[in-house]
Amino acid sequence: MKKISITTSISETTNLHDLEIEDREIISRALTAAMASWSPYSGFSVGAALRLANGVIVTGANVENAAFPSGICAEHTALSSAASNYPEIAPVAMAITALNKGKQVLAPVAPCGKCRQVIAETENRYKKDIKLFLAGKNRITIIERGSDLLPLVFSQKDLNSSDQ
Ligand code: THU
Repeated sequence: MKKISITTSISETTNLHDLEIEDREIISRALTAAMASWSPYSGFSVGAALRLANGVIVTGANVENAAFPSGICAEHTALSSAASNYPEIAPVAMAITALNKGKQVLAPVAPCGKCRQVIAETENRYKKDIKLFLAGKNRITIIERGSDLLPLVFSQKDLNSSDQ
C-alpha cells in the first residue's frame, strides 16, 4: 500500500499592517458585509468580500431562512453575485469574517465544506487561485488558495472520467 500525505501551509498574523492595503480593504468590506446578514436563527452573521482581477470588490452575507436548509452562506452569496455580475472576471482574493451575536469573532472562521466546494469550482472555472483571508478580530489566517482547504476535491474532471 502506498501512503500519500497531504499538507497545507497557512500563514497567520495578529497585525493587519502585515497585509497589503488592498487585502486590508477586503477584510474591512467583509466586516461591513456581515452587518447586512439576515441571521435571526443562528445569530451568526458572516460577511465575505471578493476582490476580482479588475480590482472590483463584490460582497455577500449569509441569508438564513425559517426553512433552515434554504439559507445561504456569505461566501456562496458573494461568489454567486460575482459569477452573475462579472462572469468574465476571475475572483483573486476573498476575505471572510463573522459577528457572533453582534460582536466580531476574535479567532478566524473558515469556510464550511459546501463553500469550499464552491470556491474550488470558481478556481477551476477561471484557472486562478483565490487567496483567502480568514479574519478574526485578533488574528488573520492567510491561505494561498481555496483548493488547499479541499484536498481530493470533486470536480468537472470527475464527471468526464471514464475510470470506474
Ligand atoms: N455560515 C456562512 O455564512 N459561511 C460559512 O462558511 C459557515 C456558516 C453561516 C450559515 C448560517 O447562516 C450561519 O453561518 C451559522 O451556521
